[in-house]
Amino acid sequence: MIFVLTGAGLSAESGLGTFRDEGGLWTQYDLEEVATPQGYGRDPVKVLDFYNARRANAAGAAPNAAHHALARLERAGRARLVTQNVDTLLEAAGANEVWHMHGRLDRVKCNKCGDTWDAPETMCPFDACGSCGAQKLRPDVVWFGEMPYHLDEIERALAEAALFVAIGTSGTVYPAAGFIEHARMLGTPTLELNLEPSGAPFDEGRYGPASEVVPPWVESLLGAASS
Ligand code: APR
Repeated sequence: MIFVLTGAGLSAESGLGTFRDEGGLWTQYDLEEVATPQGYGRDPVKVLDFYNARRANAAGAAPNAAHHALARLERAGRARLVTQNVDTLLEAAGANEVWHMHGRLDRVKCNKCGDTWDAPETMCPFDACGSCGAQKLRPDVVWFGEMPYHLDEIERALAEAALFVAIGTSGTVYPAAGFIEHARMLGTPTLELNLEPSGAPFDEGRYGPASEVVPPWVESLLGAASS
């Protein structure tokens, strides 16, 4: 099984932008204000507005050739897809199962009781939780300082992986940034597919836009797509 970790670079060509590249989200917004529990506590309306804008942007986006190639690899039973991205473009491209370790834009979580459900197009600050009635709803997105999802399953999948591949991620945010060291410690071969080298010690790298680099890599594993 190939363990595939993806980041914002996978969805960049679908128009969703990245965080740390020039013009990225963290050059436009203060992440302390919109991506931390403290920021939500101080100004929940600002946080909901930030994620409403991202949800609208994601709703208008289409999967690119890299999403389609990865979905094909996953449907063939060859890859475990783990993403830091909160968009669902891999699912839109036909992937059956994607582990969103940083949560999903299209889900809501009650900050009081923890219940989760599908998000409306626009979240309003006075919406109440259907389970506990609290007006403390937030996007089901993992903020800085919070525990990512799927970590136990990820640890098991890394231990079983025959190859670790990181696609479109700067490798700057833990625990995802530590997966390559974990793979190297296990003696698992590592491959980076990115616009440019992230600087992490991968055994191999293929560089260029994801939509140009990922499909040939998948085809080298599965053969050319029939359709
Ligand atoms: N094709 C491939 N890679 C690309 C492309 C592209 N078209 N465009 C940009 N990249 C690469 C950049 O070279 C960089 O390595 O995507 C990466 C984007 O890095 P970041 O903006 O840091 O995004 P990411 O690594 O996903 O951030 C990780 O940080 O803010 C948190 O929760 C957020 O999940 C995010 C996490």
